[in-house]
Amino acid sequence: MRVRFALLFTGLIACALGCNGSGPAVAAGASPAVPTNVGPVPGASAPPAEIANPYGNDPVATMDGRRLFLWYNCYGCHGGHAGGGMGPSLRKKDFLFGHHDDQIFDSIAEGRSEGMPAWGTKIPSDQIWQLVAYIQSLRTPQEPDPPTEPANEQVPNPENNNRIAIGTQSAHQEK
Ligand code: HEC
Repeated sequence: MRVRFALLFTGLIACALGCNGSGPAVAAGASPAVPTNVGPVPGASAPPAEIANPYGNDPVATMDGRRLFLWYNCYGCHGGHAGGGMGPSLRKKDFLFGHHDDQIFDSIAEGRSEGMPAWGTKIPSDQIWQLVAYIQSLRTPQEPDPPTEPANEQVPNPENNNRIAIGTQSAHQEK
């Protein structure tokens, strides 16, 4: 009994020292150190196919999107013509979260961390696509109800202050 206990004990000690697998001992015949992937590998391997807006730039969908933009109070944060307010301008080329149709859809449906609510459970997806159509039409000739003044709602923003400087050409240009 005492001997078995002692053996067990030495076994435990030996294990504590060597059984964690980090030692240099590698069994002969162990598989080579080349990693082989098993199952789905996290991380993007190929970019996912972009999903295009089923409405495209359909003018009716674009007008509906304009109406929804006001209806759902998007303008409260993004400005009446989406030129920015508490939320960022949507009239710019560089979108924080991407300007592809599906990326804009995701911004609206899933929300974004710095204050953009998730609308996916409140707005049916066809209406979200109409909003996407409207946002994509901004600054194009297709934009419904375009601003008569340059959208300059993002205050305070020193860049905008420059743009409203009286007598400058840029006052009438929408960048
Ligand atoms: C409560 C204020 C608020 C409301 C209401 C709101 N947004 Fe936003 N939105 C934001 C903020 C803030 C951001 C930036 C989020 C960030 O940077 O994480 C944003 C980001 C976005 C973006 C991504 C912009 C980019 O640069 O990638 C889109 C698109 C957008 N909003 C569309 C909408 C639409 C459409 C509605 C109406 C259905 C709406 N938002 C309503 C505050 C709002």
